[in-house]
Amino acid sequence: MRTSPLLVLLAVPAALLLLSGCATQSLGESERNRLVGKTFVVTGASSGIGRGVALQLGRSGANVVLAARRTKALESLAREIVVAGGTPLVVTTDISRTEDMQHLLNATLERFGRIDGWINNAAVMATGRFEDIPLEDHQRLLDVNLKGTLTGSYLAVRQFRKQGEGVLINVASIDSEVPHTYQASYSASKAGVLSLGRVLNQELRLNKERDIHVVTVMPWAIDTPIWDHAANYTGHQPQMPTMDGPEKPVNAIVRATLYPRQEITVGYKAKLAYWSHRLTPEISDLFSRHAVQKGQVDMNPQVPPTSGNLHTPVETGQGVSGGIRERMREQSEHSEQPQAQPGAAR
Ligand SMILES: NC(=O)c1ccc[n+]([C@@H]2O[C@H](COP(=O)([O-])OP(=O)(O)OC[C@H]3O[C@@H](n4cnc5c(N)ncnc54)[C@H](OP(=O)(O)O)[C@@H]3O)[C@@H](O)[C@H]2O)c1
Repeated sequence: MRTSPLLVLLAVPAALLLLSGCATQSLGESERNRLVGKTFVVTGASSGIGRGVALQLGRSGANVVLAARRTKALESLAREIVVAGGTPLVVTTDISRTEDMQHLLNATLERFGRIDGWINNAAVMATGRFEDIPLEDHQRLLDVNLKGTLTGSYLAVRQFRKQGEGVLINVASIDSEVPHTYQASYSASKAGVLSLGRVLNQELRLNKERDIHVVTVMPWAIDTPIWDHAANYTGHQPQMPTMDGPEKPVNAIVRATLYPRQEITVGYKAKLAYWSHRLTPEISDLFSRHAVQKGQVDMNPQVPPTSGNLHTPVETGQGVSGGIRERMREQSEHSEQPQAQPGAAR
């Protein structure tokens, strides 16, 4: 029997939609019960995706170790987790500091005795033309996003080998595969995180360690506080018109604790971008550089340069959502309102 090419063309996006829907659904009650009493470390738990993941794990009755630099934000999350039925432990951590990460591991083992899942989610973002971003910002970003994730992966995998099982989840980005214009060091760091996960999987499979899993999660642009936390040297407010809500990556990460897969691209937009970049990289690069120039720079209000939360944490942005889509809607409504004509009656 011959398959029509049109059918194949229609089947590919349909399959992508179906797959992306399943991976981003929240867990059902019986699945949540499987998390009761399990122990998870979540870095970058003080806001955004990490906060959402920690809350969901806590609601499922898990022990959740909350790591980030903003202690007060972690403590308020810990209170929410207690009310929701989970058991939190706050460990103030700068993931770029090896001694902080070692302390995070020790404190977790001291309190809970083992680790079922370690989620390397913390990261920072810097946006601007490569040579306009200060070198110390590029270097700091790599220290946090790549060195911090590598250190967490190292400690987690060694612990999992002792236990004979465990799930390591590294939060990368669609930028791991599709380089993002004006985010050179961020894209490089996320490509590094993806590559790290691939090598770890090769080594684990070589050793036939079937109960140790390494998952790399690649979300699309998500409405979290990261856009207001970012170092920014573009001269314009960083935001993207096609953002997804944080529930998609949050659900995908929580789901991966039970159903680990080596690589998860979150949502149909990330899947389309991933595959179009693999199949036609020149067209994908052309499209993405113009889309970024227009949607992430030209269209947006002007703001002064900032190093954001790279070197020291900022107090703003402690929720799961960043409220960025709402702000873009308001900005676009405002710009669509008819302007008063000179000399018109008032
Ligand atoms: N939002 C997106 O568009 C998007 C898209 C793809 C991938 N991602 C990835 O998703 C993950 C979560 O980001 P998000 O969007 O939720 O952003 P976010 O709200 O800014 O969260 C980042 C978290 O990392 C923590 N962090 C930053 N530097 C740290 C350091 N040196 N040590 C310890 N913790 C640190 C921050 O807390 P403190 O400041 O308190 O330390 C915060 O809790 C990141 O890996 C990001 O790259 C995001």
